[in-house]
Amino acid sequence: MRRIEEEAARAFAERFGEAPELVASAPGRVNLLGEHTDYNGGFVLPCAIDRRIACAVGPTSDGEEGVLFSTNFDEERPLEDYRRGSSWAEYPRGIAWALAESGVEMLPFRATFVGNVPPRSGLSSSAALEAATALALDGLFGFEIPRKELALLCQKAENDFVGVPSGIMDQYASLLCEAGSALLIDCRTLEAQSVLLDLEGANLTLLVCDTRTERGLADTGYEDRRRECEEAARTLGIEELRDAKEEDLERLSDDELKRTRHVVHENARVLETVRLLRGEDFAGFGRLVYDSHLSLRDDFEVSTRELDTFVETARESGALGARLTGAGFGGCAIALVAASEADTLADFTRRRFEGKGFKEPVFTSLNPCPAQKSQASSREDRNHFSLPR
Ligand code: GLA
Repeated sequence: MRRIEEEAARAFAERFGEAPELVASAPGRVNLLGEHTDYNGGFVLPCAIDRRIACAVGPTSDGEEGVLFSTNFDEERPLEDYRRGSSWAEYPRGIAWALAESGVEMLPFRATFVGNVPPRSGLSSSAALEAATALALDGLFGFEIPRKELALLCQKAENDFVGVPSGIMDQYASLLCEAGSALLIDCRTLEAQSVLLDLEGANLTLLVCDTRTERGLADTGYEDRRRECEEAARTLGIEELRDAKEEDLERLSDDELKRTRHVVHENARVLETVRLLRGEDFAGFGRLVYDSHLSLRDDFEVSTRELDTFVETARESGALGARLTGAGFGGCAIALVAASEADTLADFTRRRFEGKGFKEPVFTSLNPCPAQKSQASSREDRNHFSLPR
């Protein structure tokens, strides 16, 4: 078992006086390219990161109510609570609800959660929490629901129970990414394929800069952007902006033009990136990463001064590419840098942030490709169940 899964199992045993029936865990993600394209039916290219949320579960005794406990928040909540709030517990409750809605028989359960995905920073802690809960309940009750369907159930929980209108990217990434690979998702057909990302072999790393300007999707302009995209699609007479073409841009103006231009170009960048990565052209990939940031800053207008400062610092330091990742409006940015240069870029950024009076950023280096090329060995490193006994 992974350490974090052991911690969840230990928390369960301490809290409930017996071992859990099983433990599942699921990772957060960074999105390499394809931002704000998922809810427009477009393409995205996320990859799972080495930060996870683990969920230990077991049944309740006869007639007992279900209970949820978060080690991170040191807080116990009932499974059933009709006074709906905005706490972490809404996510596992939402999964139980979505499973019941899908027609399977749900019984009360007890669960403990432990995570190390920083919340509200754009690394998809909510999707990791949803996916870990879904895997744990699927295992506990023996539903054997395929992962793609679990991902859709997770999205349903987030959209219809928690009330956040997220796209499908994060849940797909958490449940379907394989170690050492990014995942190309066609968000219209929901087809997904792994794209090998051997950064280690190219002596590169992804430096993640958490600007610590926290935000949750519910309190940003995320919903506004979704609405603007839908309006632009209506103006063009198409169902989704995925179908917009370069020549359509002439028929739009102002915000509708800017939002659509981002989506059209971002989709093209994702497909081009997949081609470049297949040829291990990381310099070409990096240029598209910079282009994506400019488009998110100027056309989609979801960047912040902190995110822009990191991207500018990365460019001046010679990073191959850098951009905000996730929804924007704060949170994290990534830079594709030579592994030997990551610390220098982090130091340089810290000084810049200090000079501008920003919060001190937090850095993590990610290597999504730990020298495993074969699908068989990378599969072992996927999110999974573990039996603690
Ligand atoms: C959030 C949402 C995703 C996606 C991104 C922006 O992470 O959860 O579905 O829309 O923002 O690309």
